[in-house]
Amino acid sequence: MAESVVHPEGEGPEATRRDFIHIAAGAAAVGAGAMAVWPLINQMNPAADTLALASIEFDLTKVQEGQQVVLKWQGKPVFVRYRTPAEVQRVAAEGAVGSPPETDEARTKPGHEPYLVVIGSCTHLGCVPTFNAGEFGGWFCPCHGSHYDASGRIRKGPAPLNLVVPTYDYVSDTRVRIG
Ligand code: FES
Repeated sequence: MAESVVHPEGEGPEATRRDFIHIAAGAAAVGAGAMAVWPLINQMNPAADTLALASIEFDLTKVQEGQQVVLKWQGKPVFVRYRTPAEVQRVAAEGAVGSPPETDEARTKPGHEPYLVVIGSCTHLGCVPTFNAGEFGGWFCPCHGSHYDASGRIRKGPAPLNLVVPTYDYVSDTRVRIG
């Protein structure tokens, strides 16, 4: 696993409102057993880090198709995943599954189906699941073996619930506000 650290430039007034943000863009593993490469963009704002900001904004153009970013919001990791057409098609075709059973439509915003936003905390005991791993093409929690699909719905293992979709809105076509 390789990591790089980048400190992106500020992005205007809204940048000051951001929480301490980790952005990890995970490249899809190629072939069984291949290691994912996780470039890490680490935007540090010490002042903001001490505040539990009510909301953060994220520019979706920073995540590439087939990848995810990991933000930190109120001390919790938040996955923003830009799903491929095949992933979207698969999770939509499965209908309502998981616990509780939910459709992918119910977990995304109309017109923005490729993007999934979930709290990146396993609903079993809170580990951070691994991107693009497990038996259902979503995430795998290595702590006790929970498998989530690409909609963040629990499909196998001890986790009792789907990954949580936080409150969020689109403030423009390419920008979300979480919280
Ligand atoms: Fe994820 Fe136990 S914390 S399976």
